[in-house]
Amino acid sequence: MPVVTSEKRGGVCTLLIDNPPVNATSHAVRSALQAGVEAALADDEVRAIVIACAGSTFVAGADIKEFGRPPLDPHLSVVIDGIEQAGKPVVAAIHGTALGGGFELAMGCHYRVMSASAALGLPECSLGIVPGAGGIPRLARLAEASVTLDVVLSGKRLNARQALAAGVVDALAQNDVREEAEAYARKLLADGAGVRRTRDLPVHAGDAALIADVRTRIEKSSRGQKAPFVALALFEACQNKAFDEVIEQTRAVFRELVVSPEAKALRHAFFAERTATRNPSLPRAQAKLERAGVIGAGTMGMGITICLLDAGLSVALVDSDATRLEACRATIEKTYEGNVAKGRIADAIRQERVGRLKLVSSIADLADVDVVIEAVFEDMAVKKAVFAEIDRAVRPDTIIASNTSYLDINELALGVSHPERFVGMHFFSPANLMPMLENVRASRSSPQTLSEIQALGRRMKKIPVLVGVSDGFVGNRMLARRTREAYFLLEEGALPQQVDQALYDFGFPMGQFQLNDLAGLDVAWRNRQSRLDKLTARERAITILDDIFAMGRLGQKTGAGFYRYDERRRRSVDPEIDALVVAQSARTGVARRAISDAEILERCLYVMINEGALILEEGVAERAEDIDTIWLNAYGFPRYRGGPLFYADQVGLPKILQRIRHFAETVGEQYWRPAPLLVRLAESGKSFHGQD
Ligand code: 3HC
Ligand code: NAI
Repeated sequence: MPVVTSEKRGGVCTLLIDNPPVNATSHAVRSALQAGVEAALADDEVRAIVIACAGSTFVAGADIKEFGRPPLDPHLSVVIDGIEQAGKPVVAAIHGTALGGGFELAMGCHYRVMSASAALGLPECSLGIVPGAGGIPRLARLAEASVTLDVVLSGKRLNARQALAAGVVDALAQNDVREEAEAYARKLLADGAGVRRTRDLPVHAGDAALIADVRTRIEKSSRGQKAPFVALALFEACQNKAFDEVIEQTRAVFRELVVSPEAKALRHAFFAERTATRNPSLPRAQAKLERAGVIGAGTMGMGITICLLDAGLSVALVDSDATRLEACRATIEKTYEGNVAKGRIADAIRQERVGRLKLVSSIADLADVDVVIEAVFEDMAVKKAVFAEIDRAVRPDTIIASNTSYLDINELALGVSHPERFVGMHFFSPANLMPMLENVRASRSSPQTLSEIQALGRRMKKIPVLVGVSDGFVGNRMLARRTREAYFLLEEGALPQQVDQALYDFGFPMGQFQLNDLAGLDVAWRNRQSRLDKLTARERAITILDDIFAMGRLGQKTGAGFYRYDERRRRSVDPEIDALVVAQSARTGVARRAISDAEILERCLYVMINEGALILEEGVAERAEDIDTIWLNAYGFPRYRGGPLFYADQVGLPKILQRIRHFAETVGEQYWRPAPLLVRLAESGKSFHGQD
C-alpha cells in the first residue's frame, strides 16, 4: 500500500497520507510526500494542492522510532520547505491531532483548514527535543508571542476555536475536512488568492519581560532539562535573525538534542507507558460497567468517587459514619464547582455528574452495582467484615475491588464467594488527580475480570498497570526500601534536609522526609506500628518517626513534622529535629560521619533498583516498563531519567551490582543482598530493557 496517494478533482490535487496508526512522517512518508508535491507541481492540470490524511488523525509527528538512528533524506524540514516554496497554493486539511512535525507540515502549507474537533500542538520538548522542522520560526510568525511560547514550552494544545482566534488556521470545517479544504482551495483559485508563505510574514514581537517571565517559569517546571531552554533560545533568535538562519540553528541543536540522555529517557517514558498499559494475553473487555459502589467516604473513597463520576458511571457511596458521608458529598460538590469556576467543565456537566452520585447508608443497598471499590480503614478485620457484607449484597457477577495499600489481596479474597471476580485497585492520593493506578491480580482473579478493571482504569483516564500480590505491590514495596535506607542514613550521619536535597537535585519534586510530611506522619507511624513484627532489630531501634509523632508533629497539616511550616506552608529546617536525629545516633551507639550526596543517592536509588529486580523476577511486575511507568506517574521519578530501571541501564548494571555488593559489606548483607536477576543481567552484559 502506498503511504501517499494523489487524486485530482477540478484542478485540485489532494495528496492523502495513509500511514497508520498516526500518520507519522516516517522516511517512506517524507519521500512519497516530496515526490507527490513535485508531481503535482509539474502537472499543468493541477492548480492547487490539498494535503490531507486518512484514518483518525492528521500527521501526529515525526516517527519517534526513527530518532537516534542515522537520519535518512529527505529531512522533514526540506520536504516542508519544498511545499512552502511551491508556486501553487497548498492547503492543509487538518483533523484529529496535528502534533510536532504534523503541525509543522501544516504551518508550511500556505493555508490551513481545520476540523472543529481537531487540536494542534508542539510536544517536542516533552520528548527532550525542539520542533525540528521550522515549528518555532513559523508559529512565531502566525501567532502572538505568548501563544507560541505556551504551545512550545508548556505543551499547550490549541483547539480549533483557539487556533482560529490565534490566526493559526484560516477556516474551520464542520463536516468532511478534506472536502471542505478542497472547496477552500477552489475558492482561493476563484479569488486569485495565490500562495502565502508563512516564512514571509513578520514575526510577532516577544518583549523582554515576557521572555524573562517564561524563563523563570521553565526554570521551575523543567528543572534539570535542556530542551525547553534551547527552544526558548530559538524563539529569541526569531526576534532578530532571518528565517533561514533560525532553521539552520534549529537543525544544529536538534541533532545534538535527539541523541542526548534526556531525549532517550523521555522517548523511553513515552513507549514504556504505552507498553505497560497493554496486556495482550488478556481477553477483550466486554462488561459495560455503569453502576459502581464505593465503600468508605474518606480521603480515598472521595477521590475514587470523582474518578468514577467523571468516567460516566453512577456511584452509590457508603460510609458507616453519616457525618463523614455528608461531608464527602459537600467536598465532591465543591470540587466540581471549582472545576466550573476554572472553566474546566460546563455547569451542565457538573450538574449531570453530581446527579449520578447517591449516598446510601448500608452496603445492603448495593444489590444492583456492577463494580464495588472498597476504601475503608486499612485494617484486615474491618475489611474482612466489609467484604462479607458486600458478598451478601451484590450479584454473583459484580466485580469486587479493594483499594488497600499493603494488605494481602489473596487473604481478602478468601471471604468472597466468587474470588475470580475479586481484585485490588490501588489508587494513589489524591485519587482524582494522580494518574497512576496499580490494578492487582489476586491468585484467583479471572483474566476477564482483570481485563474489565484495566478497561475501567482507561475509562477513568488513569494509567492502569497490572501488578501481582506483594507487600506494597510494586510502587510502595520499592518505596519502603528507600524509606528504610533513608532512616539508616539519618542514623549514620545525614540530616533529613541533606537526604531530601540530594533526591530533589536528582530531579524528584521532593525528598523522602518532605513527602512524609505531606502525606502525614500519622499515616507513616500507623504503617510502622502495623509491621513492627516484620522489622529488623536495627529498624526497630531507629525511633525517629515515633519520637516526632509523639511530639504531635504530624507533618504539614499540623505545621510541623520533619520540618516546620508557616501558615503558607513554606518549609524551614528545624534545629529541634536535627538534635533529635543526632540523639538517635547516640542512643544506638552509631558514630556519625559525613555522608556525601553521592552516597545518599546511590543508597536511595540502588536499593529500589535491586527491589525492582526482585519484583520482576517474582513476576509481581511483568515488564521493566511497568515499574518505570509506576515510578514516573506515582512518585515523581524524574521523567527525563526514564524511570528507575531505565536509569539503572544507563548507569550500567555492572557498576550498580558492584555498589550493591559494597553496601552489603558496609550497611549489612540482609539489606543489600543482590537480586539474582540483577546479577545475571550484569554478568552477562545485558540490561533490564533487553539491550546490550
Ligand atoms: N511516532 C511513532 N509512533 C507513534 C507516534 C510517533 N510520533 N505517535 C504515536 N505512535 C504510536 C504509539 O506508540 C502507538 O503504537 P502501538 O499501538 O504500537 O503501541 C500508536 O501509535 C497509537 O498511539 P497511542 O496509543 O498514543 O494513541 P492515542 O490515540 O491515545 O493518541 C496521539 C494518539 C495523540 C497521536 C499520541 O500517540 C501522541 O501524543 N503521539 C506522540 C505525538 C508527538 O509527540 N509528536 C511529536 C513527535 S516529535 C516531532 O514531530 C519532531 C519534529 O519536530 C521533527
Ligand atoms: P480514611 O480514614 O480517610 O477513610 C476511611 C473511611 O472508611 C472513613 O470515612 C470511615 O468512616 C469509613 N469506614 C470505616 N469502616 C467502615 C465500614 N465498616 N463501613 C463503611 N465505612 C467505613 O482512609 P483513607 O486514607 O481514605 O484510606 C482508605 C483505604 O485506602 C485504606 O485501605 C488505605 O490503606 C488505602 N489507601 C490510602 C491512601 C492514602 O494516601 N490515604 C493511598 C492508597 C490507598
